[in-house]
Amino acid sequence: MVENKEKTLESLPGVGPTTAERLREAGYRTVESIAVATVEELREIAEIGEIQAKKIIEAAKEMADIGVFITGEEILELRKELGWITTGSKQLDTLLGGGIPTRAVTEVFGEFGSGKTQLAHQLCVNVQLPPDRGGLEAKAIFIDTENTFRPERIQDMARGLDLDPREVLKNILIARAYNTDQQILLAEKAEELAEREEVKLLIIDSLTSLFRAEFVGRETLAARQQKLARHLLILHRIAELRNLAIFVTNQVQARPDMFFGDPTKPIGGHVLAHSVTTRVYLRKSKGNKRIARVVDSPNLPESEALFSVVEAGVRDP
Ligand code: GTP
Ligand code: MG
Repeated sequence: MVENKEKTLESLPGVGPTTAERLREAGYRTVESIAVATVEELREIAEIGEIQAKKIIEAAKEMADIGVFITGEEILELRKELGWITTGSKQLDTLLGGGIPTRAVTEVFGEFGSGKTQLAHQLCVNVQLPPDRGGLEAKAIFIDTENTFRPERIQDMARGLDLDPREVLKNILIARAYNTDQQILLAEKAEELAEREEVKLLIIDSLTSLFRAEFVGRETLAARQQKLARHLLILHRIAELRNLAIFVTNQVQARPDMFFGDPTKPIGGHVLAHSVTTRVYLRKSKGNKRIARVVDSPNLPESEALFSVVEAGVRDP
């Protein structure tokens, strides 16, 4: 998979500065985003004809960073470069196959207070640990959409691991997103940052809250899902190219139609279900205990683990 940084929208045939500007304004910032756009979308956004739109999409598909086919053996080699970040709980790490992996998008979803934000904080600390303590000796980026990042909590967790709280805080880069465009842009900025700095973890807490707030009503559902799909495409690319762990949180919504089993489901529908690598469902148990369940993973069995959130952070109960 060769990366080409010169692939601007303007390098596509028939895309001049004006068309490129219109596309960017509509959220299409990369050749890849054009490659997965529909002819109708392009016609409307760029105010161009059907033939031209088709040509642009075809060219984008040729140019896009979707990689080429590689052998299973090469994939095995690539997987040897994978890193894992400990969650702080051995049981939870075991459930996840060794912790939160790089080159993947891991989603945790669950109701309020189920521990999503706490886990996100803990990973920002743990990624800084040396490998023999379950870390990757690297920095973290935290995209905060709900104003839930708390430096004081990071300090607690750093102390819990005998790390210098000030140093730990210095290695976490935080940005607030107030709308989905900013969120998508920040993810792209994170990619640039990861080129320059030793970043191994990207958190988005929460992935879906702004999408949910911005797109209200059934008639906006298709647009929301399209944008979310584009966002996830970018996240996967970052995870792959930078060998980075991406950890996103998601809420659940009530299912009034369900009378048996768990009456909640994650936000984001099929788009999210099919594009994250591993989904973990968190539930509250007694006191500070939480139950984690792997819901959908290509290589992990569906099972459960117990962890707890204490003063020092995430631990085995
Ligand atoms: P929403 O974002 O509201 O959907 O919830 P969440 O899943 O992000 O919940 P969060 O991770 O914020 O978990 C909150 C829980 O973590 C609380 O109910 C507490 O049990 C625990 N917790 C949070 N902060 C502290 C703390 O400073 N000390 C201790 N001991 N526990 C904490
Ligand atoms: Mg939270």
